[in-house]
Amino acid sequence: MPIDPCMDYLSIRDAEPVRRDDDLGVWIVTGQRQVTELLRHPALSSAWPERGTTRLHHERSGTTDVMRTADIVRRWFMFNDAPRHQRLRGLIAPLFSASRVAALQPFVEESVNDLLDSVTEQIDVMSELAVPLASRVVCRVIGLPQEVAPRIANWASDIAALLVADYLPDVVRRGTLALEEIEKAVSAAQSTQAGSGGTALEILGEAHQEGRIEEQDVAATASLLVFAGFDTTSSFVGKAVRALMHSGQWDMVTPERIPTLVDELLRFDTSVQQVARVAAEEVEVEGHRIQPGDLVLLMLGAANRDPAALENPDVLDVDRRNGRHLAFGYGAHYCLGSGLARLEVAAALNGLIRRWSRVELAEPPVLRPHHGVTVMEHLRLNIGTRTSAASGAVSRPSEPSWPSE
Ligand code: HEM
Repeated sequence: MPIDPCMDYLSIRDAEPVRRDDDLGVWIVTGQRQVTELLRHPALSSAWPERGTTRLHHERSGTTDVMRTADIVRRWFMFNDAPRHQRLRGLIAPLFSASRVAALQPFVEESVNDLLDSVTEQIDVMSELAVPLASRVVCRVIGLPQEVAPRIANWASDIAALLVADYLPDVVRRGTLALEEIEKAVSAAQSTQAGSGGTALEILGEAHQEGRIEEQDVAATASLLVFAGFDTTSSFVGKAVRALMHSGQWDMVTPERIPTLVDELLRFDTSVQQVARVAAEEVEVEGHRIQPGDLVLLMLGAANRDPAALENPDVLDVDRRNGRHLAFGYGAHYCLGSGLARLEVAAALNGLIRRWSRVELAEPPVLRPHHGVTVMEHLRLNIGTRTSAASGAVSRPSEPSWPSE
């Protein structure tokens, strides 16, 4: 069924897989092969919040080399290259191993049950499921108390704005405040950590005690996890449900299909439509010469719909088996939380379909543009009769087959 709900980038996809946008002053890459190649290119640096500039930065600041973004954000390993990136990523990577993710499954499923059990007649998938679920999981992984969970959404949104529009004073004020609040929550939580290595704060606290990282890296990495783990997942739950509703395929979702379907939904309309890099040296691609200092936007969502790589890419096919999408990136910065994200989304979908076999959109999804990031605020569904499986625990799909990275 050829459908396409709300993809913003399709108009730029087909003409040129690599092109310079002179209005924005950036390179835009949409081809799957080219995005993959550039994601592993050693001359493209992840330190773009510090060094990358758009035309807007030039106009607003009047100079190209102002010191950009908060110190704490510059510490995020996501925005660092080797060797600092590998050192910090390696520290917390064990938290996201397959066995750790499996151990989180009961917590995730109980959270879904807890959130859905009280729902009657209508559900706002965002505020009643996706947002609280992703917030609780982020708190759990970091080691923040669950009372902090209701603050995660605002923190994540203010930090996201800071990353894209740090030339606006109000954005800087709010983003800085969010980072300070996270620092405070981290210090409060650290005083109660037992130190068994089960949370990010325990691992990072120990590394700091042993002199392996600086004190500021503890709160910095916690704020990275808020940013990287919250909106990505909550928005994607909303997008996944929206895609299934728009394509009329809700009733084809079964627990057995969910593991592969999550990846097809990620391919079809991911929440992280683009990642950025800044050229450290000249890079040649498809006959273009990207100059040192140029900002490069790698359009993951467009690449996942590249007709040169995939048949009928604009079709959401619930039976497609395609683990090779770029929704979690590629190469050294491949999403650390991919297994956890898949678990959360699968549990959310499972929780919904096991309770309500028939749902319909109560109103069009409500989106909020927020300094370059589009946030899904509300996705209200009218829900049908509860199915008999609703009262039981959400069972795990019989054969979880997460595609290997
Ligand atoms: C559907 C949900 C998610 C999507 C689509 C997603 C997507 C991505 C993408 C595309 C990257 C690569 C960034 C780059 O190359 O610059 C990334 C990195 C990352 N993600 Fe996710 N993510 C999701 C959920 C999560 C969750 C739940 C967590 C943890 C709680 C997480 C933690 C991270 C971290 C720490 C990085 C940085 C990795 C590095 O720089 O080495 N993500 N994610």
